[in-house]
Amino acid sequence: MALLMGIDIGTTSARTIVVDERGTLLASAVEEYPLYNPKPLWSEQDPEDWWRATRNTIQRVLAEPNVEAGDITGIGLSGQMHGLVMLDKNHNVLRPAILWNDQRTAEQCAWITDKVGKDVLVQQTCNPVLTGFTAPKIVWVRQHEPEVADKAVMHLLPKDYVRFRLTGEFATEVSDASGTSLFDVPNRRWSQVILEKLEIPEEHLPKSYESPEVSGKIARAVAEETGLRAGTPVVGGGGDQAAGAVGNGIVRSGVISVTTGTSGVVFAFADMPVTDPQLRTHTFCHAVPNKWHVMGVMLSAGGSLRWFRDALCSEEVAVARRMNVDPYGLIVAEAWNAPPGCEGLLFLPYLTGERTPYPNPHARGVFFGLTLRHSKAHLARAILEGVAFGLRDSLEILKEMNVPIGEIRASGGGARSVHWRQIQADVNGAPMAVINVDEGPAFGVALLAGVGAGVYASVEEACDAAIRTVSVTEPIADNTKIYDGYYAVYRALYASLKDRFSEVARLVSS
Ligand code: XUL
Repeated sequence: MALLMGIDIGTTSARTIVVDERGTLLASAVEEYPLYNPKPLWSEQDPEDWWRATRNTIQRVLAEPNVEAGDITGIGLSGQMHGLVMLDKNHNVLRPAILWNDQRTAEQCAWITDKVGKDVLVQQTCNPVLTGFTAPKIVWVRQHEPEVADKAVMHLLPKDYVRFRLTGEFATEVSDASGTSLFDVPNRRWSQVILEKLEIPEEHLPKSYESPEVSGKIARAVAEETGLRAGTPVVGGGGDQAAGAVGNGIVRSGVISVTTGTSGVVFAFADMPVTDPQLRTHTFCHAVPNKWHVMGVMLSAGGSLRWFRDALCSEEVAVARRMNVDPYGLIVAEAWNAPPGCEGLLFLPYLTGERTPYPNPHARGVFFGLTLRHSKAHLARAILEGVAFGLRDSLEILKEMNVPIGEIRASGGGARSVHWRQIQADVNGAPMAVINVDEGPAFGVALLAGVGAGVYASVEEACDAAIRTVSVTEPIADNTKIYDGYYAVYRALYASLKDRFSEVARLVSS
């Protein structure tokens, strides 16, 4: 039976999986790497760490007795989107990669919008230029590190750097390229207009493919180093959100996903490149050829809970270690002791600024409504509810855009918790379905690799072969009523605090 490999270069770790053509997981390996925040708002990683983790996880899955390298017919790559890797003419990395959640480029976004013109920018890329996206990072390096920018002859996204190490090819694919602010999203190619305006030569960017297309083959030296078969095809793959959506079966109109990882994403399939007139959501090319998707991205979803764990839950972490269980399980169980609505305590999850619905790098996390009655359980539950409110913001925008919403599929770490899933169902007043696989973007790109290798005729066929719904969490009407009231307050809080966020940003930077 044909085997397929999926590799995901995440923000915290690289993950490699091997599945068979029915989508059954045969092997998986994860390796973490550090994230660097050398200054407030900065977020960087060393691309060499991604490569090391990729190589090690490939070696580990190939060491499993049920995985034969010669049976792997295709490899797919997925990864954190928007990051910038710059290479010099000898293909050496010039500086640490600047990541999707880096917020240093507010000025460069304004500069690009002015230079290209907002209408042209939106018509070409279907989106405003945002601090997390790639083009403003290129401009930032030009303005702040000109000696680095002068040497750069190639600009790559994170997974595409790993592709280069695996295959020697400079290639990307349409879903990840869509998040650069340099891509003509309706026509699925680099935007000549924008490249010209920003004076970026097209040869300084990788060649762009559709996601299931073969973009290169495993190089001989890499085969020796990893145990893979030389010549194994590597398909385009996808940015983590499009890839994760394929892995969730979001390949037809009407099925949408809500993914709670570090970020929180509401993702809808689209037959056409439709945009939110207020540009609060992103419209990108999907990993399904000639299809698009609309998504709302909140920056700190699971990331908010991780902050809580690290800042305030050392006791739970120690107990979890002793019991050999996941500390998040203990934290969420504690949160369950507080009632829905947390007796008036609300949390705004803007710990790293926000994107949807407020593209504001200066927005901050807030606990609102604290009283003496509130315990740690309330704080924890307020975080779970605040993230659910943030995700509802994106769902409301999709409704305004008349995007068909039939089944909502919950995925990511947050969906694994039955309690958090219930909160999301209650906040949305809608059932949340769970599918049979929970392997995230790596699974989606393994399926894309199967399409590229000819195992499946199309991405839709791949998903039909491998994915089905296994359970549904129904909303509890009484809770939905309570949450509707608090959601209105949640929405109003941002409007009340917006100017204060800007003032604090000024104070911090002065
Ligand atoms: C999507 C986005 C994040 C990153 C990291 O636009 O910024 O989902 O890809 O996961």
